[in-house]
Amino acid sequence: MSHFLSLLHTYTPTPPNTSGWQSPSCLSEVDLSKHGLNPNRLHTLGDRSFQNGEVAFLTVAGGLGTRLGFDGPKGLFPVTPVTRKVLFHVFSEKLRALQQRYGRTFHWLIMTGEETDKATREAFRKNRWYDEAYLHIFKQGTLPAFSTDKQPLLNEDGSIVCLPDGHGGVFKALKQADLLSLLETKGIQTLSYFQVDNPLVRLDDALFLGAHLHQKSEFSTKVVAKTHPEERVGLFVQDGDRLRLVEYSEFPPSLQAVRDKDGLLKYRWGNTAIHLLSTDFVRACAERTLPYHVCRKKIKVWDPITKTVQMTEGLKLEHFIFDALPQANNPLLWEVAREEEFSPVKNATGSDTPETCRRDQIRRWLRWLKAADPMWLEAQLKENPEPLLEISPLFADNKDDFLNAWKRLPEKPKTLHGCCL
Ligand code: UTP
Repeated sequence: MSHFLSLLHTYTPTPPNTSGWQSPSCLSEVDLSKHGLNPNRLHTLGDRSFQNGEVAFLTVAGGLGTRLGFDGPKGLFPVTPVTRKVLFHVFSEKLRALQQRYGRTFHWLIMTGEETDKATREAFRKNRWYDEAYLHIFKQGTLPAFSTDKQPLLNEDGSIVCLPDGHGGVFKALKQADLLSLLETKGIQTLSYFQVDNPLVRLDDALFLGAHLHQKSEFSTKVVAKTHPEERVGLFVQDGDRLRLVEYSEFPPSLQAVRDKDGLLKYRWGNTAIHLLSTDFVRACAERTLPYHVCRKKIKVWDPITKTVQMTEGLKLEHFIFDALPQANNPLLWEVAREEEFSPVKNATGSDTPETCRRDQIRRWLRWLKAADPMWLEAQLKENPEPLLEISPLFADNKDDFLNAWKRLPEKPKTLHGCCL
């Protein structure tokens, strides 16, 4: 405890030294040939790696989801527009679709925390979303929590309040759960990492995987272009020969709106927290200690006066996964279209809410339908300009697959509104 107390007392977030900063380079599907890369070859490389079972999936789901204010693990939040499937169910369908494509089941690792573990396990057991032999639910570590005047917070029984140690706790948690040896035994080379809050995440992206493997990257990330200088998103910067991610709260305001010669924001690559990690790198990270961050959060604490549990502002120690990035060799940034792949559920109101996520899911499916059958869609939208619809990942989880699946349909749905494919 004294270690954490002194850490807290000496903690001053140092402003980053920006003298060596440059705009990092970033690849995308459309400019591969400009870089002398052959998309078909990269796709084949990724495809083969899936086929050989060299990829496992890793969901971090140990966060408290305080901002959403949902009573339970965020993975059990109903997210789809019509059938109200919960996030874990959506991800399990994505993985089952992949299983159908490659004729093999992929290992799925889910990190929970003290608060989310039991309910997560029970939900998977009850709903049988995924083959238990390939499902590995493991708990992350905890760190003590403090009041804003830096005193340890206490539970009803007098013990110290301990909270999840941040998504950066994943490396040590994997080691502790003996999952690093499982990855080794199964010949898994890449961990496909994603957060529990984004139902648009693509888990079948052979091209991204191929680019990651081709570059011998240890840490690859999908990025989206920032929409405006003040957008609250972590940004990637090239700092000398290292790539790093700077949290929006720590990003120097004087650099926020700087533009390059093409008039684009110089630092524009926003983090989606969709990563591919080489398992060798993950193993090395499990032996290191990432830096501590002190975060101000609403924390549940026991109030001895009212004898009730209250939400109070407090300080929480956390590790962030992206603090591992500067150690990674050959890291890759890969630009994707935000509207196709990124719409997290973070807040109850404002941006990134259940409502914006539902809207983004529907808009994405409408774009696919427009590409597949513009006349049919137009007629349907005349009937109902704001249809509710849902497309399961088991039908299609990207535009190209949707075009094929639509062609194979024996008959078109009678109406779009309320339609589930
Ligand atoms: P967030 O930054 O959204 O934090 O986590 P959170 O704790 O879930 O939500 P708030 O801030 O209290 O509202 C991003 C991802 O990292 C996971 C979350 O579950 C989510 O998938 N995470 C976060 C962990 O697995 N463990 C943690 O300790 C923190």
